Amino acid sequence: MTQKVAVLGTGKIGEALLSGMIRGGWAPSDLLVTARRPERAEQLRTRYGVEAVSNAEAAKAADTLILTVKPQDMGTLLTELAPHVPADRLVISGAAGIPTAFFEERLTAGTPVVRVMTNTPALVDEAMSVISAGTHATAAHLTLAEEIFSTVGKTLRVPESQQDAATALSGSGPAYFYFLVEAMTDAGILLGLPRDKAHDLIVQAAIGAAVMLRDSGEHPVKLRENVTSPAGTTINAIRELENHGVRAALIAALEAARDRSRELATGTGN
Ligand SMILES: NC(=O)c1ccc[n+]([C@@H]2O[C@H](COP(=O)([O-])OP(=O)(O)OC[C@H]3O[C@@H](n4cnc5c(N)ncnc54)[C@H](OP(=O)(O)O)[C@@H]3O)[C@@H](O)[C@H]2O)c1
Repeated sequence: MTQKVAVLGTGKIGEALLSGMIRGGWAPSDLLVTARRPERAEQLRTRYGVEAVSNAEAAKAADTLILTVKPQDMGTLLTELAPHVPADRLVISGAAGIPTAFFEERLTAGTPVVRVMTNTPALVDEAMSVISAGTHATAAHLTLAEEIFSTVGKTLRVPESQQDAATALSGSGPAYFYFLVEAMTDAGILLGLPRDKAHDLIVQAAIGAAVMLRDSGEHPVKLRENVTSPAGTTINAIRELENHGVRAALIAALEAARDRSRELATGTGN
């Protein structure tokens, strides 16, 4: 059976997903998009050959609705959508923080809802998309959500109670690495390197470390110990990181991100 899928609120994440699905073999004729601005709808039509429709039309025509508006716009979108979504539609939310119960309360009783938290490396097919079932979502619904999001990277199922933690780790995760690269590039400049060379050195170190972490099967402590010779350079740097409480800062930072994800549960952004 052909599955018609609509992406509602096709911004950065929605477009990455749309592009991934088309590259993954979905026919553009089985995909619908919605956008708030007519020029954005036209851009998506031209770029991907998909039909751009209203939110209500998408709700009527598609079997699966993927909602990728910002959390603060979700309440308004659901108010608009609710009268048009029959209970046999699968609703997938890509919004940070908003629980499946928020959708279930606003949609026809029994509507299956799947919550997915992805991240911006979806733009380069290296996303981590964390997937949880709502009350009425079945194994088949979770599998379909995995098929859709695996076109832009990896997927992981977690109980919904772990979604706020996953949002803090992998939803916001790329930003922490960009922040580290920015700070380490500044350090390179302090040490006398030109900015472009410092940037290249740090980015390649980050890529090398990421591939080692993913492919070696070694614990990060072991990988770090391999670079930490007695009385060498690395241990001097590590001592400074510990002196400045970097480990504690990271733990506190992720706790703050988790707390903000919890706050977004209201769907108003407040
Ligand atoms: N960016 C991230 O790092 C990231 C990571 C993981 C998950 N997410 C989640 O992904 C979702 C989308 O984020 P994003 O960065 O892709 O945001 P975005 O680029 O602003 O995309 C949202 C799009 O939805 C459109 N929109 C808003 N209300 C609408 C409505 N009623 N009908 C139709 N379209 C509507 C917006 O239109 P306008 O262009 O007119 O504003 C915008 O194009 C968010 O819920 C976020 O929590 C984001």
